[in-house]
Amino acid sequence: MSVKKHIAIFASGTGTNARKIIDHFKNHSDIKIALIVSNKPDAGVLKIAKEFQIPNLIIEKEKFFRGDAYLSELKSAQINFIVLAGFLWKIPSALIAAYPNKIINIHPALLPKYGGKGMYGHFVHEAVIQSKEKESGITIHYVDDKYDHGSIIFQTTCPVLINDTGDDLANRIHVLEHEHFAKIIEECLQK
Ligand code: GRF
Repeated sequence: MSVKKHIAIFASGTGTNARKIIDHFKNHSDIKIALIVSNKPDAGVLKIAKEFQIPNLIIEKEKFFRGDAYLSELKSAQINFIVLAGFLWKIPSALIAAYPNKIINIHPALLPKYGGKGMYGHFVHEAVIQSKEKESGITIHYVDDKYDHGSIIFQTTCPVLINDTGDDLANRIHVLEHEHFAKIIEECLQK
């Protein structure tokens, strides 16, 4: 009998990616979404956790960055892989060291362009439009100790249309994220 791999999803916002991932793995034989972690007590993703009866953990800055980075809670939930799906805090080095090549992030642009501190949500899409890029896309990558920097696992593109607003582009990017993220997570875990 195979031992289930336990994923924690870290998210700060609405959690549309988290929902897709949860849905993808809900009847999976050896991968389980075991914990939803958020730094925002009112994040939409916590409602999704409740809906699917997945345990949640609300984290505080002090303990995350200057304490043990919640390692004991993650160990108790037997977490062996971490997915960042719209999580806005930097990952402390203690957590990276405890999960080497086992933390992945999705970024709504084609890294290495349009990444780094402050490049999230609409800021990314507005910068892409402002620079008159003809295409944008998504990047799924391993997490290291710099924002949006670790090695790239997967990228795919979509066009940026001439009259696009940030919202138009965000919607197009979300479609790509929802189509690919769970499948790439599954591939990473089956390596
Ligand atoms: C996504 O666009 C992802 O690329 C970024 O944060 C957003 C999260 O969106 N890192 P949602 O909360 O999953 O809808």
